[in-house]
Amino acid sequence: MRNKVTIVGAGNVGASCTLWLAQANIADLVLVDIPQTETMPVGKALDLLQAGPIVGYDSRVVGTANGSYDGTENSDLLIITGGLPRKPGMSREDLVGANQQVVTNIIDNALPRSPNAIVIVVTNPLDTMTYLAYKHSKLPKNRIFGQAGILDSARFAAFVAQELNVSLENVHTAVMGGHGDEMVPLIRYSTVFGVPLSEWLSADRLNAIVERTRKGGGEIVNLLKTSAYYAPGAALAKMATAVLNDQKLIVPCSTYLEGEYGLNDICFGVPVKLGRNGVEQIIELKLSDEEKAMADKSVGIIRETMKALK
Ligand code: LAC
Repeated sequence: MRNKVTIVGAGNVGASCTLWLAQANIADLVLVDIPQTETMPVGKALDLLQAGPIVGYDSRVVGTANGSYDGTENSDLLIITGGLPRKPGMSREDLVGANQQVVTNIIDNALPRSPNAIVIVVTNPLDTMTYLAYKHSKLPKNRIFGQAGILDSARFAAFVAQELNVSLENVHTAVMGGHGDEMVPLIRYSTVFGVPLSEWLSADRLNAIVERTRKGGGEIVNLLKTSAYYAPGAALAKMATAVLNDQKLIVPCSTYLEGEYGLNDICFGVPVKLGRNGVEQIIELKLSDEEKAMADKSVGIIRETMKALK
């Protein structure tokens, strides 16, 4: 049986994710958007299908018209990218009002057609939208989670590799916490060639890189006048691949916590093991007092944002 993935939201993040996933050659892909965009997803999907013979992928890519979910039936994975992106000056949290209805509508339309799907959320504000999607879907918590930490760690890694003029292959970075400017970069657990970052970089340079990582999404919003999409799309494709290939890949994801890290009733970015059953394990790292304080601050912001949920 071929795997099937439905990507809802055919905007920049959805289309980039579809491209990366097509190249991964692991699933047939269905691209869906809202009724107002009419035949746009059909056109994007056709364009992506026609790149297959050139690039050498064999994924069947189709789009649906007028917001239809027909053709998405029995998807193994459902990726929710729908919703408004940020504009300059906006925080991710500013999107909570606009995007909550979008996320619940997608769940209501997509899930009945694919009752066994694993669901990945990327709509912002990420942790709050993942929480909403989890509660609204009534799925077991292992089957619905959010993308953020892979992207944040990737930004951190890219900046470190650039600074030290070393291959990205040598850099391993870890970020946890909410997907916001108060995320928790785990400097102690981040290495180049297995050697802690503090041995490669002065405290000042390391702090500057951490700050740039935290504001990495905003830096791109200011340059682009909309949210990033290539790296977010790639991060989604990596998670989807880990699930479909039952990879047991440990990566940070926003997942529903029930006591882990001393937290309850919140979706928060922590390292998890991703496999065919979704979040198969939550990894509890020992945090230092400083890291705990950063995590508390991040939790506070998410809880504040969650108050706006209706
Ligand atoms: C970012 C958005 C997608 O971090 O949240 O770029």
